[in-house]
Amino acid sequence: MNRSCGQKYKFWTVSLAKPLQSRKTANKDGYICTHTSCAMKFDVQGKTILLTGASDGIGKALAIFLIGQGARLAVHYHTNGASAESIVARCSNGSETFRADLSDEKEVSDLFTNVVARFKRIDTMVLNAGVFLPHSVNGGTVEWFQTWKRTMAVNLNAVGLLTKLGIDHFKTLGRGRLIYLGSRAVFRGETEAYLAYAASKGGITALARSVARSFGKDGIVAMVLAPGFTRTAMAEAFIADHGEETLLNEIALKELTEPEDLAPLLCLMCSGAMDHATGATIDMNAGSHIR
Ligand SMILES: NC(=O)c1ccc[n+]([C@@H]2O[C@H](COP(=O)([O-])OP(=O)(O)OC[C@H]3O[C@@H](n4cnc5c(N)ncnc54)[C@H](OP(=O)(O)O)[C@@H]3O)[C@@H](O)[C@H]2O)c1
Repeated sequence: MNRSCGQKYKFWTVSLAKPLQSRKTANKDGYICTHTSCAMKFDVQGKTILLTGASDGIGKALAIFLIGQGARLAVHYHTNGASAESIVARCSNGSETFRADLSDEKEVSDLFTNVVARFKRIDTMVLNAGVFLPHSVNGGTVEWFQTWKRTMAVNLNAVGLLTKLGIDHFKTLGRGRLIYLGSRAVFRGETEAYLAYAASKGGITALARSVARSFGKDGIVAMVLAPGFTRTAMAEAFIADHGEETLLNEIALKELTEPEDLAPLLCLMCSGAMDHATGATIDMNAGSHIR
């Protein structure tokens, strides 16, 4: 990681001073902090990163951040191509969009193949795409299990397949990083309507730990970021049902976490500066579940 003073970055400069106050300078591009002293530049310049679910929410905020830091991105999306294109249009470093429905096994492997064919190498994969589908046990068993399978297909099976493909690829390179989006739900438990979601994230967490233990000597690291409630489309339905006040009462901070709050830590994970935390799950949940 490089440290630099006096530089301004197009999308985001992380200041070591007053990080929460920097929130006030956020605009639609993310945070633009005007502090120029003690600025920290994340070293992802020129790195090729496949980011799934980059078209919305946490993935979109991270994509904008990574591109601002000079990474070359494979911007994956499913339905929101316009959003993915708008991210790529921000830069001229060869970042490109890739469409795939991650509930479809063939589309998952085609996504990986297409990205490698286009970029020749992938340095890091951020496996972020996910669904948060309610399936209360008060409903019918058939519907309940359909939602279970749909959740597992996107949140766990696709992640497992991309992990296998990634390990094969990283072994040929002698290094690589797998960054997974887990959840506070793994440690705190979820409400009864999201049993499949919690189980899928538990699977991811165990997967990351096992990859970290098994392939460290191949230069492969794996870690998990476990967010708490973060204000994205995924969370909007929950906010509509339960009200923002309920969520604010759960957290230690005064404001709900925004997608942009997660991007710097995820970028740090991508940079290699956290490689010795391989296997770890890092919580970022506004103090709502401290373990
Ligand atoms: N938001 C939270 O409170 C929260 C908390 C803990 C963990 N997380 C985790 O953080 C990650 C991102 O969540 P988010 O809140 O940013 O979600 P989001 O705003 O709903 O965005 C989801 C992303 O996943 C993609 N996606 C959904 N279904 C897909 C499918 N079948 N195939 C391919 N891509 C698909 C979407 O693509 P399109 O829009 O292009 O269709 C979109 O880019 C998820 O893994 C989630 O579980 C979120």
